[in-house]
Amino acid sequence: MQRAAAGVLRAARGLLYERHGEPVAVVQLKDIEVAQLGDTDVHVKMLAAPVNPADINMIQGTYAILSPLPAVGGNEGVGEVLEVGSRVAALKPGDWVIPAISGLGTWRTQGVFPERMLLKVPSDIPVLCAATLSVNPCTAYRMLADFETLAPGDSVIQNAANSGVGQAVIQIAKASGIKTINVVRDRPDLPKLVERLMALGADHVVTEEMLRKPEMKDIFKSIPKPRLALNCVGGKSTTEMLRHLQPRGTMVTYGGMAKQPVMVPAQGNGPIEAEHRTQRLLWALPSLSPQSAFIFRDVRLRGFWMTQWRKDHEQDQQSVATMMDALCQLIRGGHLTTPACTQVPFQDYKEALEAAMKPFTSSKQILLL
Ligand SMILES: NC(=O)c1ccc[n+]([C@@H]2O[C@H](COP(=O)([O-])OP(=O)(O)OC[C@H]3O[C@@H](n4cnc5c(N)ncnc54)[C@H](OP(=O)(O)O)[C@@H]3O)[C@@H](O)[C@H]2O)c1
Repeated sequence: MQRAAAGVLRAARGLLYERHGEPVAVVQLKDIEVAQLGDTDVHVKMLAAPVNPADINMIQGTYAILSPLPAVGGNEGVGEVLEVGSRVAALKPGDWVIPAISGLGTWRTQGVFPERMLLKVPSDIPVLCAATLSVNPCTAYRMLADFETLAPGDSVIQNAANSGVGQAVIQIAKASGIKTINVVRDRPDLPKLVERLMALGADHVVTEEMLRKPEMKDIFKSIPKPRLALNCVGGKSTTEMLRHLQPRGTMVTYGGMAKQPVMVPAQGNGPIEAEHRTQRLLWALPSLSPQSAFIFRDVRLRGFWMTQWRKDHEQDQQSVATMMDALCQLIRGGHLTTPACTQVPFQDYKEALEAAMKPFTSSKQILLL
């Protein structure tokens, strides 16, 4: 094993892929080189890194941005600074850092990264919270803050509510007095999942099928209809969720887990509308009518991508710091916890990749590096 001038270990292992394809087939644990430390570089020992859907899509070659090949997988994680270049002022050995940008390649034991690609985080928060902080909680925080002005007592509806983002939405909303209506897919152990999300602070948990049932109106006896809907699924789940949004409300799409387009009733003559009309006749419940989203309710459809937000705010470090401080305060106060997770030893990475791609896993796979 080589030693650097400063006496720091220089051999590393990483999860490398040389071509795009199914993750289990193309990702391999290999020895990788650690670059020489330049003046503005930081040598980091990685501690833990999750497997997120975007990591999987990047390996498959289907994500909006792709790393040049060969690439080390992973976009999120936390590491400890081992040494810094002579012109690095804001970081020192022992500090914890997380990626400030996408594409860092966090599934490795150590690496040398330019300082501008890293963000310091306090080391008094749990390591697994830090490892999963830069993507999902930030996305949840921004979507709750940037699209509608929500006050305590207002409500938000979201699908894939048991996802990493969904769990963060529930907790951040709860801490702000905002009510959440949480949509999940039906599954054999649904009561257990409902209990878990309620324990996190969810106000209501419903299945995708329940979105079309008359019982939904009972929810809106105690809380107002949502002004904000957060969509991570697409297809029918999204169309059904949209019908509960207030007129002039906003739906933010940030994921497409069902790999189906977002369909929005325009006026009442599409196939989905026809199906809704049948239900309306059957149940005679105007509140469940399609209320054609675009023309009669003027809903706003928006999109959000954390990567783009970071690019747009590269010169606005104050906004980044305000967000990170707020999230770390929530973590310290016990209001924002590590997502439900499975800790996986690095060498068992194939199990983590497989589990991350299975439906109903309900557990973020976190590689221990
Ligand atoms: N735009 C952004 O900036 C941004 C940031 C973060 C994440 N995301 C995206 O948000 C999504 C969730 O990410 P995450 O890390 O929170 O995910 P995660 O923790 O791995 O959870 C995945 C979620 O997707 C659901 N799901 C999977 N396949 C589905 C399907 N066919 N239909 C409906 N639901 C399905 C799962 O539900 P089950 O339990 O029912 O399988 C689970 O709730 C991903 O698409 C990710 O790329 C986007």
